[in-house]
Amino acid sequence: MAKKVVTDLDLKGKTVLVRADFNVPMKDGEITNDNRIVQALPTIEYIMEQGGKVVLFSHLGKVKEESDKEKLTLKPVATRLSEKLNKDVTFVPETRGDKLESAIKSLEEGDVLLFENTRFEDLDGKKESKNEPELGKYWASLGDVFVNDAFGTAHREHASNVGVASNLDSAAGFLMEKEIKFIGGVVENPDKPLVAILGGAKVSDKIDVIESLLNVADKILIGGGMAYTFLKAQGKEIGKSLLEEEKIDFAKDLLDRAGDKIYLPVDAKCAKEFSNDAEITEVSVDEMPEDQQGLDIGPKTVEAFKQELEGANTVVWNGPMGVFEFSNFAKGTIGVCEAIAELKDATTIIGGGDSAAAAMELGFEDDFTHISTGGGASLEYLEGKTLPGIKSIANK
Ligand code: 3PG
Repeated sequence: MAKKVVTDLDLKGKTVLVRADFNVPMKDGEITNDNRIVQALPTIEYIMEQGGKVVLFSHLGKVKEESDKEKLTLKPVATRLSEKLNKDVTFVPETRGDKLESAIKSLEEGDVLLFENTRFEDLDGKKESKNEPELGKYWASLGDVFVNDAFGTAHREHASNVGVASNLDSAAGFLMEKEIKFIGGVVENPDKPLVAILGGAKVSDKIDVIESLLNVADKILIGGGMAYTFLKAQGKEIGKSLLEEEKIDFAKDLLDRAGDKIYLPVDAKCAKEFSNDAEITEVSVDEMPEDQQGLDIGPKTVEAFKQELEGANTVVWNGPMGVFEFSNFAKGTIGVCEAIAELKDATTIIGGGDSAAAAMELGFEDDFTHISTGGGASLEYLEGKTLPGIKSIANK
């Protein structure tokens, strides 16, 4: 069922509660990547233009003890947001109470306010993370309508998303709408042929995604650390490469069921040590040295994957092809990024997490149709699960 979107709401003069996902990476009190803030701007700006009063809230990190509060305040986010909007953003360092309520009451049309990390409420009986009914009801009482733009949090059933939505008229923000269209579109109604590229370290993290995509994808290309368990399942010797012994049977069964849908690496870059400076051995997957581990797919695999991508109308990618954090083992991931970027007529989607970070760090930010802001959320969505944060948004 289609969800209401922010354009379906009458916003003029309304106090609009907006759940964003400002769970941004921080180091020493500084934001190291503001993509999630940038991606939230269209919804915020739209509400401002429509004459709404914007009341933003988000979680940041996991708040377990009082001492976590200092490093997990959203104040730096308010400062960055203010720079991006070129407008003052009122920051209220509270999650409830008189100060917050009177700051909201004094907002004018087009003003923006951000209140403190919703997970500060977790210090008192995990109220936010357990979706304590009183908390969602209280936050809902602060506004006239609710816009949920926090796709990154959509796999959580928390007071600040599901709780508020159960107490107030709601709609998806533009980012949420985009994520539903692209990530949801892959599992629900992809424009075929659909090619999925899956990587990352562990098979166990991706079992449900593989199963789900097997139903809709025409081809699944597997790289990264998880590929070695599949190669082992085919009877190959993989040296000291990553292996999940207990997943070999799953891998065998999947290869049997998938027929010729699954494509594995044909060569690998191996090394004795897990280090960027390690000496590299480039070999066929039939000749992997017993004292070395595969740290990246090789050039023949990049070429083979490139050929399999030709003619795809939809491509979804989740998980790096190698240890891309080491520049000497990033070429497989870069090669796949380049191959996808060349597909000008296809809808190309990165399903969040490490692969999104890799594509952005490697300079491919503008070459994909959509780079998801969700980590766990995009993975669960690709697994075909119903995400509570999305489910709770009002239907059209
Ligand atoms: C994320 O970064 O995946 C989301 O913001 C959710 O964060 P969480 O895993 O701490 O709930």
